[in-house]
Amino acid sequence: MADSGGVLRIGLAGLGRFGALHASVLADLPGVELAAVCDPDPSRVAEVGDRHKVAGRYGALEQMLDGEHLDAVFLVTPEDLHAAQAKQVLARKLPLFLEKPMATSHTEGEEILAAAQAAGVHLQIGFVVRFDLQHALLRSEIANGDFGPLISLRVKRNCSRAWFPTYGNRAHTMYETSIHDIDLLLWLIGQPCESVYALERNVSSMRYPDGCWALLRFADETVAMIETSWFVPSGAPANVVTPDWHGTIDAVLEVVGVERTASISLLETGLAIWRPDLTAQPETNLWPEAFGSIGGALRQEDRHFVECVRNGTRSTIASAEDALAGLRIAEAIVQSAEERREIRLR
Ligand SMILES: NC(=O)c1ccc[n+]([C@@H]2O[C@H](COP(=O)([O-])OP(=O)(O)OC[C@H]3O[C@@H](n4cnc5c(N)ncnc54)[C@H](O)[C@@H]3O)[C@@H](O)[C@H]2O)c1
Repeated sequence: MADSGGVLRIGLAGLGRFGALHASVLADLPGVELAAVCDPDPSRVAEVGDRHKVAGRYGALEQMLDGEHLDAVFLVTPEDLHAAQAKQVLARKLPLFLEKPMATSHTEGEEILAAAQAAGVHLQIGFVVRFDLQHALLRSEIANGDFGPLISLRVKRNCSRAWFPTYGNRAHTMYETSIHDIDLLLWLIGQPCESVYALERNVSSMRYPDGCWALLRFADETVAMIETSWFVPSGAPANVVTPDWHGTIDAVLEVVGVERTASISLLETGLAIWRPDLTAQPETNLWPEAFGSIGGALRQEDRHFVECVRNGTRSTIASAEDALAGLRIAEAIVQSAEERREIRLR
């Protein structure tokens, strides 16, 4: 640790919606100091910096890396910056937590993984769903063999139509939303993907399609179906509810094995709050805020990163190699939808 009596000094770049959540978690994790924050938007730096009494405040990543003795860095910046910024951090041999998607191309992902291996530091990609209790319980039953051979998995992640203008020019939905599900498939099935066939729709005429559907075959013959689109109407129950941002992520996972089947739905928590303006069904597992702090999977994920860095151990939960494999699958799905043909990965 950088002369800090065993306290891990972390620098966080990117203080938007999700960076602010990580800041809140990091600021009250034991043994961690949120030592520096960085964002080109001074109002974000002031807001997050003041909220958590952060001493180091910067407008650019390079300045933060030059100006601080950090033990690790969190990057929660826009998707198209991940590759260049990750390589900047890893060139300084600093452990890195990088939000999903790892990058926006497989080649960039390979470069990031190679840079982490060359630096010999822990690299963790933000696949928060692996740290959700329900998914973790399901994963351990599957890994124990309780489901028998897997037959098929279906994953759906449909989002509010009102959000699409924010994302439609930002990243292809396979990298933005379904990358979580691709990662879940790799984790639950534990086999490489052999081929994909995909279709997409572009109704809004933005840069990226507003719907994409893919059929995947894994090496053990398990079949997976991915669905993602941005057409959930504003009248749907809202499971993302903040003072300035609300809407719905309609995410479902279904597993069919020879012996058992299972399903998880992000909308079914049992909690429903009827308000004059909307019906809220707040998500309670991923990053719930209660008792003055953020808990759930996001806290587990950040704590796990800190433990890996502190103990110098490899993660048994979050695999950077799987994150890279996921990018290859996302890329093949986009190509398949564009070329309207099956893409073989092996
Ligand atoms: N794991 C999850 O479930 C999850 C959920 C939401 C977002 N994310 C990911 O988190 C990342 C950020 O998403 P968001 O929703 O917070 O986006 P956002 O647009 O709300 O915030 C991005 C922030 O990065 C800042 N920024 C821009 N350029 C920068 C630079 N060069 N250096 C430092 N900061 C810079 C922006 O000013 C902004 O404050 C994305 O990769 C996104 O995919 C992950």
